[in-house]
Amino acid sequence: MPEQVRRALTDLVHDVPDYPEPGVVFKDITPLLADHDSFTAVVDALAASGRDADGAVVVDKVVGMEARGFILAAPVALALGAGFVPVRKAGKLPRETHAVSYSLEYGQATLEIHRDGVAPGERVLLVDDVLATGGTVAATRELVESCGGDVLGVAVLLELTFLPGRATIGDLPLRSLGQV
Ligand code: PRP
Repeated sequence: MPEQVRRALTDLVHDVPDYPEPGVVFKDITPLLADHDSFTAVVDALAASGRDADGAVVVDKVVGMEARGFILAAPVALALGAGFVPVRKAGKLPRETHAVSYSLEYGQATLEIHRDGVAPGERVLLVDDVLATGGTVAATRELVESCGGDVLGVAVLLELTFLPGRATIGDLPLRSLGQV
């Protein structure tokens, strides 16, 4: 892991206690995003999940989950020369969708993908900011598979190890740039 990524995660991700509700410590990544060199280093590190050991790109699409996942997944897609596909909260996508309901760290949600967002047989990398309970990643994997796509892995900035994200996503290869 490049030293710059380590430093970005340590210095530029701020803990916000009791947000959005008492007892939750929110990980605010906006200072990291505002620093060009840190943002670039993090995008490059996440994009490594879309390459094989020789550096060849092995994914066709990068899927980002609303909303913070979009911020990271879109530049990762560009870095890999792959397409970007948004997974959105219920009612935001205008055409025919697949939908999956799941539990969040706090609350319940439904995610959707356009039915033609991923073509059958396409190889997909999921990118998000935080892996917490793993519900978002598991639901997104289900959505991609409903389209006929194949999820090769997931890359996140931060993994909250006190929550069961890694267990929830099972055999899906996970790259987390930082663990808390
Ligand atoms: C957060 C975060 C991840 C998800 C992780 O999203 O950005 O997508 O929770 O939690 P999980 O592993 O328990 O599913 P949130 O729905 O809070 O929305 P936002 O990105 O729109 O702020």
